[in-house]
Amino acid sequence: MDRLKGKTALITGGTSGIGLATARLFRAEGARLAITGRDAARLAAAQEELGSETLIIRSEAGSLSEIDSLMEQVKNHFGQLDVLFLNAASALPAPVELVTGAQFDEIMNVNFKGIFFSIQKALPMLGGNASIIVTTSITNRTGSPNFSIYGASKAALRSLVQSLGLALIARGIRINAINPGPIDTGGFNRLPLPQEVFQAVKSDIEGRSPIKRLGTPEEVAKVALFLASDDSAYVVGEEIVVDGGISLVCLP
Ligand SMILES: NC(=O)c1ccc[n+]([C@@H]2O[C@H](COP(=O)([O-])OP(=O)(O)OC[C@H]3O[C@@H](n4cnc5c(N)ncnc54)[C@H](OP(=O)(O)O)[C@@H]3O)[C@@H](O)[C@H]2O)c1
Repeated sequence: MDRLKGKTALITGGTSGIGLATARLFRAEGARLAITGRDAARLAAAQEELGSETLIIRSEAGSLSEIDSLMEQVKNHFGQLDVLFLNAASALPAPVELVTGAQFDEIMNVNFKGIFFSIQKALPMLGGNASIIVTTSITNRTGSPNFSIYGASKAALRSLVQSLGLALIARGIRINAINPGPIDTGGFNRLPLPQEVFQAVKSDIEGRSPIKRLGTPEEVAKVALFLASDDSAYVVGEEIVVDGGISLVCLP
């Protein structure tokens, strides 16, 4: 119950799916929390559920000026940070011919540039023994035709985690990644697809998955807790796959 007692944590994208499940678990394990999101209704619902002691901040993950402001607010509130979970991402599907320059920039800004600068700007707040966690995706290993830019942004993150793993460990700061497969989250269920296409995609995933189902946000949150806590003290620059085995499957 107290694996994060006395620790402070910032979770980006903490109002839905994996981020919200992690916020619930971190809170239950004793952490003081700040979370971000954009949608006003989801921000309000998270405040209601996580309580007034949780700092809820509307912040655009791809905007450097909003990242500055976010870190300022977290510093004013907590003074320092023990856990930085960079989880917000943009996941717009599009076939290669239809990707626009604006979509390309949006995905790379939120999923890669924003994460790099969030880490850079949070560094002065991160003490020795701090843990940084980023959320990648199995698309960074398997390829996914309609998520080419998304998968590439998550592959860039895998590389970043390795380089920053080496750069930051001398200060006692560990950085690792969680690499989810298909997870039954609000974001997954809000994918902009016609209902019948969405159901076909979901059934196809369930059929191909060795475990024959999607994962739950809570199953990913437990891995985030492991990486956030001192239980993972010797884990550095690693990417933990949480996908029910689907990325191991070779199709005939
Ligand atoms: N679900 C899956 O199958 C799956 C698979 C592989 C990887 N992942 C990764 O897991 C992470 C969480 O995904 P999820 O499925 O839990 O998504 P989700 O349910 O849609 O939640 C996403 C969270 O991120 C926030 N967010 C999205 N874009 C943002 C932006 N530009 N600025 C600030 N906040 C933003 C959302 O807030 P608003 O709603 O207010 O925008 C929400 O709080 C992502 O990094 C995703 O790439 C998910």
